[in-house]
Amino acid sequence: MNEPENPLGRPDVTRRSFLQTSGVVAGAALLGGLSIERSAHAAGSDELKLALIGCGGRGSGAASQALSTEGKTKLVAMGDAFEDSLLNSLSGLRKQHPDKVDVPPDRQFVGFDAYKKAIAEADVVILATPPGFRPLHFEEAVRQGKHIFFEKPVAVDAPGIRKVLAAAAEAKKKNLKIGVGLQRHHQIGYLETIKRLQDGAIGDIVSSRVYWNGNGVWEPRVTRDKVKNEMEYQVRNWYYYNWLSGDHINEQHIHNIDVVNWIKNAYPVKAQGIGGREVRKHQRYGEIFDHHFVEFHYADGSIMYSQCRHQKGCWNSVSEHVQGTKGSCDVSGHMIRSSSPWRHKKGDGGDPNPYQVEHDDLFDAIRNNKEYNEAVRGAMSTMTAIMGRMATYSGVEIDWDKALNSKIDLSPSKYEWDGVPVSAPGPDGSYPIPVPGDPEWRKKII
Ligand SMILES: NC(=O)c1ccc[n+]([C@@H]2O[C@H](COP(=O)([O-])OP(=O)(O)OC[C@H]3O[C@@H](n4cnc5c(N)ncnc54)[C@H](O)[C@@H]3O)[C@@H](O)[C@H]2O)c1
Repeated sequence: MNEPENPLGRPDVTRRSFLQTSGVVAGAALLGGLSIERSAHAAGSDELKLALIGCGGRGSGAASQALSTEGKTKLVAMGDAFEDSLLNSLSGLRKQHPDKVDVPPDRQFVGFDAYKKAIAEADVVILATPPGFRPLHFEEAVRQGKHIFFEKPVAVDAPGIRKVLAAAAEAKKKNLKIGVGLQRHHQIGYLETIKRLQDGAIGDIVSSRVYWNGNGVWEPRVTRDKVKNEMEYQVRNWYYYNWLSGDHINEQHIHNIDVVNWIKNAYPVKAQGIGGREVRKHQRYGEIFDHHFVEFHYADGSIMYSQCRHQKGCWNSVSEHVQGTKGSCDVSGHMIRSSSPWRHKKGDGGDPNPYQVEHDDLFDAIRNNKEYNEAVRGAMSTMTAIMGRMATYSGVEIDWDKALNSKIDLSPSKYEWDGVPVSAPGPDGSYPIPVPGDPEWRKKII
């Protein structure tokens, strides 16, 4: 799992100088590849104990995939903000893996501090809460010296990204193995296509188009009369609040943005864009936009045009495309158009499921002590999406260093049910929505 040596693709900026000048406190181990062997390294035949933190749809799926990897594994602890979510997930996992789930009531942890207790029980932890909690949980799992699978996006704001980068460096020193849920990196069609692009199949890449245009996601799950306080209301309906999801450009569209960063082995140096909320007007839809369009500029002059939209009845696409000097590529369709056209052919019975492969790869690295740390890549692509959101919310052009060093911290006053989320509703129950071009808003965005 190689990370780009030069994260911005700029000849003057090495990863070392980038991390130092951008105010990211990153240990030398991350930069120099030094590693201190983790004494608790699991041998190939050892049973690996797992903990799941965030027992929703993806967390339950990831736990099942981790339990389906080769070698002995057991789910021993679970943590969730809500008991109903935890028990629902536990019941499903028990049915799928009756011999591999051993989570008695004293290892079922509920509440905002559940993560610490669940992490303590395991060798490998799966972090799959809403992304707003990810930096906190990742930092704690690294502090406790655990191997980690953490879902994308890895944060919702720049302080969170800096926290993840610092913890990623610490993880490297401790020889922890870290997987991030950007599963396209473990999908054979993408791997084959992107290898060809990086080998020059379409010449130099001059532009790219990436899309996550669809109908949107789940409707808000609870109404105010069904919950005890504003904090519970927002955490249950987490997708619609920035401090929890980072908006859908971060939560979903990161997958497509990340593909172009991967192809280019670089991250954009600046971005500008437009966005708003045309159909998602009701207060129950919290504060996120329903569309974003961003031009991301890379140091070599190439541009990534990015669209994400949650509006029914419109043109939909979830895909990535790149244009080169000698041809073009439908990356998500795994197809190259050039003087030597090429198309990925699926194996008999289809390609392996990348959600399974990402766990197979992580557990193989844990059992065989292979270098494996996807955290920096996950953090940098998350930061790209956050920079895009800063551009669409503010309406101004923003450069990478300014975005990454932003002090705008979206976390609530405290992680307790009587904590105050950063976005409070007005007397009519509706939330303030960013106004592009407004200087007062800009101070709250970048
Ligand atoms: N890689 C992918 O393709 C993919 C697909 C779906 C989701 N995801 C990611 O997985 C994450 C979870 O998404 P989901 O669809 O499973 O959401 P979900 O709402 O189904 O599950 C989230 C769970 O986290 C729990 N939770 C909330 N706050 C918590 C806290 N502070 N501590 C412990 N538990 C807490 C919730 O109660 C819920 O059970 C998101 O980051 C999402 O982007 C990734």
